[in-house]
Amino acid sequence: MRPDTTVLLDEKRVFKPDVETVENAHVKNWEIEIEKGKDIEKYWAEKAEDLDWFQKWDQVLDESNKPFYKWFINGKINLAYNAVDRWIRTNKRNHVAILYVNERGDERKLTYYELYCEVNKMANALKNLGVKKGETVAMYLPMCPELVVSMLACTKIGALHSVVYSGLSVGAFVGRMNHAEAKILITADGTYRKGKIIDLKKISDEALLQCPTIETVVVVQHTGNDIEVSDLSGKEIFYERLLEGEPAECEPEHMDAEDPLFVLYTSGTTGKPKGVLHTTGGYMVGVSTTLKNIFDIHGNDLWWCTGDIGWITGHSYTVYGPLLLGTTTLIYEGAPDFPDPGTWWSIIEKYGVTKFYTAPTSIRHLMRFGNRYLDLYDISTLKILGTVGEPLNSEAWMWLYKTIGKERIPIIDTWWQTETGMQLISPLPSAYLKPGSVNKAVPGVEADIVDEEGNPVPIGKGGYLVIKKPWPAMFRTLYKDDEKYKEIYWDPIPGVYKADDVARRDEDGYIWIQGRSDDVLKIASHRIGTAEVESAFVSHPAVSEAAVIGKSDPVKGEVIKAFVILREGYELKTKLIKELIQHVRYELGPVAVIGEIAQVDALPQTSGKIMRRVLRAQEMGEDLTDL
Ligand code: WT7
Repeated sequence: MRPDTTVLLDEKRVFKPDVETVENAHVKNWEIEIEKGKDIEKYWAEKAEDLDWFQKWDQVLDESNKPFYKWFINGKINLAYNAVDRWIRTNKRNHVAILYVNERGDERKLTYYELYCEVNKMANALKNLGVKKGETVAMYLPMCPELVVSMLACTKIGALHSVVYSGLSVGAFVGRMNHAEAKILITADGTYRKGKIIDLKKISDEALLQCPTIETVVVVQHTGNDIEVSDLSGKEIFYERLLEGEPAECEPEHMDAEDPLFVLYTSGTTGKPKGVLHTTGGYMVGVSTTLKNIFDIHGNDLWWCTGDIGWITGHSYTVYGPLLLGTTTLIYEGAPDFPDPGTWWSIIEKYGVTKFYTAPTSIRHLMRFGNRYLDLYDISTLKILGTVGEPLNSEAWMWLYKTIGKERIPIIDTWWQTETGMQLISPLPSAYLKPGSVNKAVPGVEADIVDEEGNPVPIGKGGYLVIKKPWPAMFRTLYKDDEKYKEIYWDPIPGVYKADDVARRDEDGYIWIQGRSDDVLKIASHRIGTAEVESAFVSHPAVSEAAVIGKSDPVKGEVIKAFVILREGYELKTKLIKELIQHVRYELGPVAVIGEIAQVDALPQTSGKIMRRVLRAQEMGEDLTDL
């Protein structure tokens, strides 16, 4: 176990919900709702009724082949139909579905009807390109409406999408693309980032040299950047051309509840990222229910989740959750501090954002500017503030509560993972809150903190966070690797899902997340495997061996500290350090933030495995005599 679990839980402050928040909430009493959720089948079946099914399920949960659980057996449903089509027959037809804003202040709005037409055209175009049900379409796009349209178009025709985060670079891109065996890639001429345009087309061109399965590349002209267009006849086509003349009608594919929906890659302890596979019915039920109850979404809300669509937060809560609830989702392309650190507050004021969901790292970053920018804007429309991705320390929590929320609105720290698909541990707006705690498992979910054998640990003691019962939006397997799915998540502690986080519980049953228990780093809320970073290091000619650990950082949470053994003839001088940082960035992308590189003669190892534990202990100045 990595994080320090000997420190006592000394946070004793408790904050009661505001009367108005509770009065307006879908769930007025969180404890009663948790009670209701104890009968998971009854609870989730009731929630599933909120969606439009072509054919109802005849069994809620099938546990006959554990851990390959199935939900809503024989139910037939379509995601795009539920997220878009069904609203155009209601008074939401002309309601804004997507409000796109970027750092340059450009803005674009798509109503549900406009989104409907665009998705249908894209769906028809994909069919014309030969995409069939069950096949995978890859996307490497900025936060832009076309990404949402492309994802929905896939779900409409039963194709899977695999979105690669636009901040990942060539090496990371190639690995994911080849594993997914996608035939089509949708990319763009660029994305805006801090006043510059990052040429995504160029990165994808380089990556595609190593991706033999891609037959067609669709290019969105998003920034008007001057890009190179290849003359490989027929291989590249502009998005706008592709949609030309396509009919704005497309019948939704009747998907089985258990048909695959998408693959999303995430980092684990090995060098290769894992393809997390989500399926249709349960995912839709889990994501829409959690968003509705945890962020208390109503028809007149303006929802803003800053999570990039390239990660699960964006899939579930920037795109699918809000559209399944028929609300407006704000999609912002850019950094929180460009052109200045008041950007986000200005957007909240301008559009009257009511519910805001972001990452602790962004909060810590903006906190550093105090009230300087904040005071320039009126953000009193906010009703709920939430975070995800890493622990929200109590200082950041208090800043949100006092300075941003004026002690009026709930701070919702949600715990979940790419694998879980939906929020699993989180307060509801009617809950009593403790700064720094993620509260309890949400209704319909059961969590525990246990030792290696699966026995619950005493109050206040650190243990492994596990989920004890299946939940609807759970991933169903690792793409093309059922064995690893069992081995990594279900075999270590029999009968339960091991999240690979260390946590503790206090006397009131509140859960406090300590951090990962495996060799996965959380850099600015992004998940990155130490092994991936190490492979990137050793792929540089100067490095013969490398080991990396996380080093704590006040804003990013963790950054990389690398220990490298250099090949003969190389010296770790400024030039090489710069080159190594550049190289790792090229392989993995800007997510791999390197804080320090140290040259060593040897690395601590047992049977060929690097003992990062030893490096960490050494770094923290701990006693190593027991090793
Ligand atoms: C890991 C999952 C799910 C969207 C973003 C991350 C950490 C997540 C919290 C939280 C403390 C958290 C865990 C988890 N994490 N939320 N509220 N408090 N830690 O998804 O990339 O799959 O990462 O993020 O360590 O295992 P992900």
